[in-house]
Amino acid sequence: MTQYGALKRNDLESYPDAITDQGQGSGARSLQAPGSIRFFDYRPTPADVRAEVLEGLGRSVKRLSPKLFYDQRGSRLFDAITELPEYYPTRTEIGILRDHGSEMADRLGRDNVLIELGSGSSLKIQTLLAALQPSVYLPVDISKEHLLESAHALAERFPALAIRAACADYSAPFKLPLEPEWTDLAAFFPGSSIGNFDPVDARQLLGRVAGLLGPGGRLLIGVDLPKDPAILNAAYDDAQGVTAAFNLNLLTRINRELEGDFDLDAFAHRAFFNLAESRVEMHLVSRVEQRVRVAGEVFAFRVGETIHTENSYKYGIDAFHRLAENAGFVAEQVWTDPEALFSVHCLRVLETTPHPG
Ligand SMILES: C[S@@+](CC[C@H](N)C(=O)[O-])C[C@H]1O[C@@H](n2cnc3c(N)ncnc32)[C@H](O)[C@@H]1O
Repeated sequence: MTQYGALKRNDLESYPDAITDQGQGSGARSLQAPGSIRFFDYRPTPADVRAEVLEGLGRSVKRLSPKLFYDQRGSRLFDAITELPEYYPTRTEIGILRDHGSEMADRLGRDNVLIELGSGSSLKIQTLLAALQPSVYLPVDISKEHLLESAHALAERFPALAIRAACADYSAPFKLPLEPEWTDLAAFFPGSSIGNFDPVDARQLLGRVAGLLGPGGRLLIGVDLPKDPAILNAAYDDAQGVTAAFNLNLLTRINRELEGDFDLDAFAHRAFFNLAESRVEMHLVSRVEQRVRVAGEVFAFRVGETIHTENSYKYGIDAFHRLAENAGFVAEQVWTDPEALFSVHCLRVLETTPHPG
């Protein structure tokens, strides 16, 4: 049980001791819950995280993957961001899901195995569950404690729902706890998280999802639209500084997990819309010339030098359709809000899927 030491005692008590080794990656395990939740752990190992951080900080243009934001505190900070007045994507996407949920269910099909990528708090799926009535809900997220908490909350609200929660990293080929007899799969990928990948990687990820779903499978995906840069800049640099705390939390995490000595006061949050690339960029800017130690290695920073921590690409509808088609999907339907801030697409996997590479 030591692997689950970070859980509160109550969490442990709500799961019996049945732990099944799934024999993958970091030692995937499942906890069989008394009710309807099973949890599978396919997380990257601490050695993987260390190697990725050292590689990113060692580059001439330093960068860290946005997936590193999401430790338990990072996930909570993200939830706080979604409630900020400047952060239009969450409330806008939820509005689209509420307005068109039954049409979406008609497209996606009911009574299937519904995989949600980057499920976070599983809030958005709750607007669709009544319409979709999946036989199994399979949330996938890299943030283990948050995934467990969200799965618990969902199980309390929807006691009849069978939940298989998988802690995994979808930025590389990943395993899911699927049964061979589950042939009717659908996927939900909200939050415009696809925009965190550059277009080549986004195509690869969508190709992997197409391969997972199989010909005829459907993906419902939320994609943020290009818009007035002032709206975008405010959404990623809010007045209360919550996004700044979210960005800086990455350094706190490195200090804790990788024996780092980042001084948080020596870095500043910066976010701006890069029009040429159609993406919002987030950076951590070194306020001073400094040297930082991480996992025994030393990294030098010039004044003003940045760590590039996130991209959030914005796709017009045609541009996103081209990306999806290159990944093996055909675009079936798109829904937007009245102000055309955000889009939700239903994509269907073509009969012949191009190779994801
Ligand atoms: C931008 S948040 C979106 C959360 C929620 N889906 C929403 O729409 O509000 C991204 C979510 O994806 C998860 N995530 C980020 N990178 C991931 C990765 N590489 N693999 C799996 N989950 C990831 C995060 O933990 C977080 O819950």
